[in-house]
Amino acid sequence: MQTVVVWNPKGGVGKSTATVHIALAAELMGDGPALICDVDSQGSTADWHNFRQARELKGPGYAPLQIATLKSQIDQLDAAGAAYLFIDMKAGVGPNDDAILAQADRVLIPLNPKPADMLALNKQMPAIRKAGKPFTFLLSRCRHNLRTNSSTSAALGVLGHVVPALMYEREIYSDTFGHGLTAFELEPDGTAANDIRVVWLAFKQHLAGNN
Ligand SMILES: Nc1ncnc2c1ncn2[C@@H]1O[C@H](COP(=O)(O)OP(=O)(O)OP(=O)(O)O)[C@@H](O)[C@H]1O
Ligand SMILES: [Mg+2]
Repeated sequence: MQTVVVWNPKGGVGKSTATVHIALAAELMGDGPALICDVDSQGSTADWHNFRQARELKGPGYAPLQIATLKSQIDQLDAAGAAYLFIDMKAGVGPNDDAILAQADRVLIPLNPKPADMLALNKQMPAIRKAGKPFTFLLSRCRHNLRTNSSTSAALGVLGHVVPALMYEREIYSDTFGHGLTAFELEPDGTAANDIRVVWLAFKQHLAGNN
């Protein structure tokens, strides 16, 4: 099992949106079982999962991880045959960050291609490097045809790997959390669902060490 910790201390960059969409993409594209876990007391991803269960919609499963027993729980999920575990982190800095990051096979860092996000990232780079885990950037909430998409991607490429596919700013995502839905149910053939499929394929290749 690969444990992916979705982390960016900057708030509102799209961590939870990326977590649930990418995990579901993995399931729908036959790469599961994929699990999610929310370690943010705000609980968006856990709520999303509960709403989803109430609607009897399938996957991804929820892993209720406890910090004190994190490693043994993750080992058990691995032994039970899970393929991917996506852990949605909180914004800011928390007392459990080190313990959670210690379990990561890879840290996925969503950020928006905007100067404010790059400045914030710059301040976080020492903490990201200190975690000592491989990390990958994901450009999220991108707007079409902006030069900053490619210039930000190039700048990030100097710091580390960047998923070679973008999550665009799309209205559909705002309809997902409060209902346990994703773009895959709302518009399965729409542009957002397609974006996520491409993002997952690219990220999966990278996790497998193929790019
Ligand atoms: N690609 C996108 N297009 C449009 N809206 C988006 C996109 N990604 C996220 N959003 C919206 O932005 C808000 C913040 O997204 P999200 O909760 O995923 O960010 P986060 O990084 O998890 O936030 P927090 O730091 O508070 O946990 C939500 O209202 C979400 O619907
Ligand atoms: Mg969140």
